[in-house]
Amino acid sequence: MQLLDGKLVSAAVKEEIKQQAILHKNNGGKQPHLAAILVGNNGASETYVASKVKNCSDVGFKSSLVRLEENVSETELLATIEQLNTNADVDGILVQLPLPKHIHEEKIINAISPEKDVDGFHPVNIGKLVLGLPSFIPATPFGIMLLLKHYTINTAGKHAVVIGRSNIVGRPMSILLSQNTEPGNCTVTLCHSKTKNLKELCLQADIIVAALGKPGFLTADMVKENAVVIDVGITRVKDESKKSGFAIKGDVDFENVAPKCSYITPVPGGVGLMTIGALLMNTLNAVTKNKL
Ligand code: GUN
Repeated sequence: MQLLDGKLVSAAVKEEIKQQAILHKNNGGKQPHLAAILVGNNGASETYVASKVKNCSDVGFKSSLVRLEENVSETELLATIEQLNTNADVDGILVQLPLPKHIHEEKIINAISPEKDVDGFHPVNIGKLVLGLPSFIPATPFGIMLLLKHYTINTAGKHAVVIGRSNIVGRPMSILLSQNTEPGNCTVTLCHSKTKNLKELCLQADIIVAALGKPGFLTADMVKENAVVIDVGITRVKDESKKSGFAIKGDVDFENVAPKCSYITPVPGGVGLMTIGALLMNTLNAVTKNKL
């Protein structure tokens, strides 16, 4: 069993991005600038956005954090997005999800200019992704592809089971793995809450991506020998022994599943760190117009 080390690979990805940004600047280009909008004070969202801002500075990007009150109106949020859309200094915009219940998430995502949608959530970018056209790829599946690529994991012709059909992770992941790319060329089964024979499907899988948000869901009896297991779960679970009062748990029962795997991602230290690297990559591409 080999660990897919998100810390190691994201550091390499970040170094590459940093060098590309310097090169771009030396060729007369501008410093990449990511603007993040955070609504309310959800603890997990605060942590993620703070990490995104810190990582921008690590690679020499400019970042702006726009904080809005929990009770901000949809109109006000839309006006903030429009300001960033028209601000020529801003290259990438992200609105941290989830949003408060009174705000229509789809309306907000649709308001972000597709050219600045570094989360890759806008219908234009999702449409391009489905067609295999250059686009911003949602950061978590993009990060997973970078991880598979780094370890040169042979995915062609393999059966990949993706558990979870979210617009942010599961669905785009299933599309990327099925594309005629390297990594890619998998036969993909996309499973969800209504899937009947999940265990049997998982037992047929060469690659499993667990992205359903249920700690410890994927157990050893669901995994065949030598499978590649990617754990996207990052649920906060109460843990009095931790200073923060919680521990981060993945969707995989790591202790029992890991011995059966050829490769597996740890939590923390796996996919989460790659997500940030992928977001920075999208932001760099927004500036250099590379691959778009
Ligand atoms: N919430 C959970 N994951 C994400 C993400 O990748 N982007 C944004 N904007 N919000 C999220």
